[in-house]
Amino acid sequence: MRRLLVTGGAGFIGSNFAHYVLRETDLDVTVLDKLTYAGHEASLAGLPPERFELVVGDIADSELVDKLTGSHDAVIHFAAESHNDNSLHDPRPFIDTNIIGTFTLLEAARRHDTRFHHISTDEVYGDLELDDPSKFTESTPYNPSSPYSATKAGSDLLVRAWVRSFGVQATLSNCSNNYGPRQHVEKFIPRQITNLIDGIKPKLYGEGLNVRDWIHADDHSSAVLRIVEAGEVGETYLIGADGEVDNKTVVESILRLMGHDAGDYEHVKDRAGHDMRYAIDSSKLRTELGWAPSFTDFDSGLAATIDWYASNEAWWRPQKAATEAKYTELGH
Ligand code: NAD
Ligand code: TYD
Repeated sequence: MRRLLVTGGAGFIGSNFAHYVLRETDLDVTVLDKLTYAGHEASLAGLPPERFELVVGDIADSELVDKLTGSHDAVIHFAAESHNDNSLHDPRPFIDTNIIGTFTLLEAARRHDTRFHHISTDEVYGDLELDDPSKFTESTPYNPSSPYSATKAGSDLLVRAWVRSFGVQATLSNCSNNYGPRQHVEKFIPRQITNLIDGIKPKLYGEGLNVRDWIHADDHSSAVLRIVEAGEVGETYLIGADGEVDNKTVVESILRLMGHDAGDYEHVKDRAGHDMRYAIDSSKLRTELGWAPSFTDFDSGLAATIDWYASNEAWWRPQKAATEAKYTELGH
C-alpha cells in the first residue's frame, strides 16, 4: 500500500490523521474535501508537498470519486456532516453527505476493488443509563437517536451490505468522542476553551451529567492505521481509550486548567433527545490487533489542547462569531 485517499481530511479528525500518517509512515496522502464550514485548508498547512495533495470536491460527485478511487490503494473515509446540534436544526446535508456520499464512495471502491475503511461513531448504538455497568461492544444493537447518528448508522449498514453483497474489501470502526487540536469551535471542548479566552462563561447543556468517553485524536489515528494494516475485511472494531467523564467535570477541569474558579460556568437549554452516556469496550481491537492508546491522562491531553487553542487563535477566530450567533439563535 502506497497512496491513501483520505476523505474529509480538512476536518478535525481527518486532518489529524493526515498529519499522523505523513509523520509516522512513508505513505502518501490525497485529501478529498468539500471545504464546508467545517473544513479548513489551514488545517493541512506544513504537510510535505511531495507526499501530499488536497483535492477540493464532493464525495457525492461520482465522476471525481471514481477517478480518485481508481488511482489510490485505499480509501479512508472520514468525510461527514458531524454535529448533532446542526442535524437537529437542518438534517438535509446529513442525508446528502453521510448517506449519498458514502454510497458514491462504495460504488467506486466496488468498481476498482479498492480497500476501504469507514470511520463511524459509537453514537450509532444510542445511549446507556448512568448506572448501567455495561459498555458498547461490536454486537450492541443499533439504536441511533439523532439525525446525525441515524445517518451514520445508515452509512455503516451500507458498508456492511457492500461487503456482503459485492465483496467490497471494507473494514469499519466506531470511535468515541475525540478531542485535540483543530476541532471546530462548535464542539463542546473547543467551544468552552475559546469562550474563556473571549471572557464568556462555559455553557453546559442541562445539568451536565451526560457522560462522554474521551479519546485523543492521535489515538484514533493510530487505531485506524492499525485496522487498515491488519484488520480483517468485513469486521467492525470499536475504538475507545476508557475515558468516561461527565460534561460538568470536563467544564470544571477546563476552568481550573485555565486559571478560573471551577464553578464559573452557566447552564443553558438542553439538547433535544440528548444521549445520556456513551462508553466503549475496545477489547477486540486491543486483543486482536494489539492496539493501545498513548494518551491515558485526560487532564494532560486537555492542557495540551488548551495550549493549542491559545497559540492558534488565527485558526479558530474566523469561525467563532458565526458559531456563537448560531447557538444564540438555537437557545444554547
Ligand atoms: P468535521 O466536521 O470536523 O470534519 C468533516 C470534514 O468533512 C470537513 O473537512 C468537511 O469539509 C468534510 N466534508 C463534509 N461534507 C463533505 C462532502 N460532501 N464531500 C467532501 N467533504 C465533505 O468532523 P470530525 O469530527 O473530524 O469527524 C470525522 C469523522 O469521524 C466523521 O465521519 C464522524 O462521524 C466521525 N467521528 C467523529 C467523532 C468526534 O468526536 N468528532 C467521534 C467518532 C467518529
Ligand atoms: P459535542 O461536542 O457536540 O459531541 P456529541 O454530541 O457528539 O457527544 O457535545 C459533547 C457533549 O457536550 C454533549 O453531551 C453535549 C454537551 N455540550 C454542552 O454541554 N455544551 C455545549 O456548548 C456543547 C456544544 C455541547
